[in-house]
Amino acid sequence: MHQFRYVGNKLFCEGVSVETLAEKFGTPLYVYSQQTVTDHFQKLDAALAPLDHLICFAMKANSNLSVMRTLANLGSGFDVVSAGELQRVIAAGGDPKKCVFAGVAKSEAEIEFALRQGIYCFNCESEPEIVRINQVAARLKKIAPIAVRVNPNVEAHTHAKITTGTYANKFGIAFEHIEGVYARANKLKNLKLRGLQMHIGSQLTQVSPYELAVKKVLPLVKKLAAKYALEFFSPGGGLGIIYNPALASGAAGWWQTPAAKGILTPASYAEKLLPQLQSLGLKILIEPGRFIVGNAGILVTRVEYVKRTGKKNFVIVDAAMNDLIRPAFYDSYHEIVPLVKKSGATVASDVVGGICESGDFFCKDRPLAKVGAGDRLALLSAGAYGFVMASNYNTRPLAAEIFVNGKKFAVARARQAIPEIWAGEKVVSWLK
Ligand code: LLP
Repeated sequence: MHQFRYVGNKLFCEGVSVETLAEKFGTPLYVYSQQTVTDHFQKLDAALAPLDHLICFAMKANSNLSVMRTLANLGSGFDVVSAGELQRVIAAGGDPKKCVFAGVAKSEAEIEFALRQGIYCFNCESEPEIVRINQVAARLKKIAPIAVRVNPNVEAHTHAKITTGTYANKFGIAFEHIEGVYARANKLKNLKLRGLQMHIGSQLTQVSPYELAVKKVLPLVKKLAAKYALEFFSPGGGLGIIYNPALASGAAGWWQTPAAKGILTPASYAEKLLPQLQSLGLKILIEPGRFIVGNAGILVTRVEYVKRTGKKNFVIVDAAMNDLIRPAFYDSYHEIVPLVKKSGATVASDVVGGICESGDFFCKDRPLAKVGAGDRLALLSAGAYGFVMASNYNTRPLAAEIFVNGKKFAVARARQAIPEIWAGEKVVSWLK
């Protein structure tokens, strides 16, 4: 359950009025709820309690240091995909020994850095990568813990750009090749085969693809675990969140929806998968990103102009696709609500940013309460893949990020000053 709700007609994040934050810190503004992050982590942790398990937060979803420290304090590990992310773990006070390193393009320097930090495991995506990790480990006189990411070739029924577990995707090693790969990796002297990983996609909302993939991979895990004394299995696939409440059933938290409806929730996940996973006797590792932080963040924006064309009502706001690219990139839905609720008729509106691209929109033809210049809106469920995918396109500074806990709030990241955008640049000497 997230902690953004109306008190009277004003939107609050926990005990803080969002309007107050917008007035104090300006817009565009990301606002995160610490209690929501904590609650979601604890819900997953509780669902997995019957198993020896480790949650490695996929920090690609939100790598704000305060978000990460919250999770590190709860005992979370981290799923990292670059040396930069691993350095962020350290900066946030996380434990590299609870980190897994995923990604298809790990460089030698990244492998060396991760090995020196003593990470829990490299999740390997190709055979040349395994060979490279062995070489780096040999040079450093270390033993590198590895798992192979199996591509189970199962359709996850999510957006094409976030499906990861079919043979049309660049991820992992084909199911049929896995046994051979383990046999060859086992001969490399500076490796320890620690586990097996699988990932079928992000924003999964149904249990069935998950069940199918686990069912397919389980006999393989059992075989490999017995042969190579594996320690863990990671049955990955990101639990989805509800972006569009009209699609969610009931007023209660959507994760309380009966598992019978086939909706993927920590409870339905546990109900369907725990018996199978328990039979393995291995540690279970999962790497959720969106489920933990997605509904824990909003993007606050201010209306600059309202413009009617022959056909459309455009609400032009001060946030844009450089702040939140998901609608432009995936046509994704984010609920848009006013910070101060008004009654009255709705108008079918396009909420758009100021960037010079027709793709720079947050919604199209959506019935919204009438707004005027100076009104503020919140884009909900922006806590995952929001700020982390922001850019300086059109030389627009990165938004500020505010962290809230109860009635407390603080700047977790200052708004970028405009000259910082070109701080690393210079006019080349021959042009001076
Ligand atoms: N583990 C692996 C190996 C992944 O590829 C991903 C996401 C995750 C974990 C975390 O998945 P989650 O729990 O967040 O679903 N930018 C896109 C999402 C890209 C996800 C890529 N991989 C979006 O805004 O929807």
